[in-house]
Amino acid sequence: MRGRLWLGGNCGGGNRVMGMSIGVTGGAGYIGAHIVRLLERAGHAVVVIDDLSYGYATRAGHAELVQLDLADTAELPRLQAALDGCSAVVHVAGRKQVGESVERPAWYYQQNVGGMANLLLAMEAQGVGRLVFSSSAATYGEPSVGRVREDIDMKPINPYGESKLVGEWLARDAVRAWGLRAVNLRYFNVAGAGWDDLGDPAVLNLIPMVFQKLAAHRQPVIFGDDYPTEDGTCVRDYIHVLDIASAHMIALDYLDGDDRPFDAFNIGTGAGNSVRQVIEMIGEVTGLDVTPEIAPRRAGDPPVLIGEVERINRVFGWKADYDLRSIVDSSWRAWQASPDVGRR
Ligand code: UFG
Repeated sequence: MRGRLWLGGNCGGGNRVMGMSIGVTGGAGYIGAHIVRLLERAGHAVVVIDDLSYGYATRAGHAELVQLDLADTAELPRLQAALDGCSAVVHVAGRKQVGESVERPAWYYQQNVGGMANLLLAMEAQGVGRLVFSSSAATYGEPSVGRVREDIDMKPINPYGESKLVGEWLARDAVRAWGLRAVNLRYFNVAGAGWDDLGDPAVLNLIPMVFQKLAAHRQPVIFGDDYPTEDGTCVRDYIHVLDIASAHMIALDYLDGDDRPFDAFNIGTGAGNSVRQVIEMIGEVTGLDVTPEIAPRRAGDPPVLIGEVERINRVFGWKADYDLRSIVDSSWRAWQASPDVGRR
């Protein structure tokens, strides 16, 4: 598996992109900072472009940090200058809250689609010809199949998912128009921490939301236990953030060496865990009482969303290394160890 070579920080002399600058948008955020750390450990110079709305400058490692809002067209000259000398961009920056996207659809399009459009304009102007784009399983909507393949009909059910899908189209169109090479990585449910100082600073997803309740000596909440699943709670494909980051390393390598100019891959484990199973695992790891309170269903939650990962396994030689216990365990350690984790 090629990508595993990068994890140890010794990518060897045969690595074609060794030593080039990589631009990472959102590199001061939760997922982006993991990618930056792996890139730096592999010997790359990194330029982080981040508006610091959710990120922390301290997470950007040794990278040059350019603070700007990608969606602000007035910033295009600075964005273009930031990409000078970059061989590729990993585009992680974006808004990612489903509920917020339903309330503020135009702003979501402005941020995610506008940001992507500005980035592509700047990349074209600078001749930066490779892109790894953070897409999402939210692009699939509510698929009727248990395990989702990359080639099913994309029918997102909220503006967040729509904005990611349009981002994929923009990348595809740039491939046709000026020769960009792009890979879209469709994340499933990202969680965990690769290092204690890089845990998720936001409390927007199941695991940090449960931690926050436990920290307040309150019961975790399950949004609906009457779904058509084995235990009645929603099933998701939880993927360790370090597995996500390693997939980006391989995607960069693939863009450098493969002839296909455009592709999309699921990044998941191929296995599902229910909300109840995740909460039980949190109980095992923390030793705390996690008896849940059952609340009504949350709007827009598909009962089951699991990624089919056969393609990424076959084409990249990538598969997830970490299981649910590692995800919960590393999240908990980061939550306890770092002052910014779970605080936004
Ligand atoms: N949930 C609870 N209690 C909580 C928090 C969440 O029961 O306190 C449930 C939700 O209802 C859902 C499941 O836990 O059934 C997972 O919810 P998350 O909010 O953690 O994640 P989502 O599946 O809604 O969405 C996440 C990301 C999206 C991404 C999607 C892809 O937030 O950006 O995964 O699968 F698109």
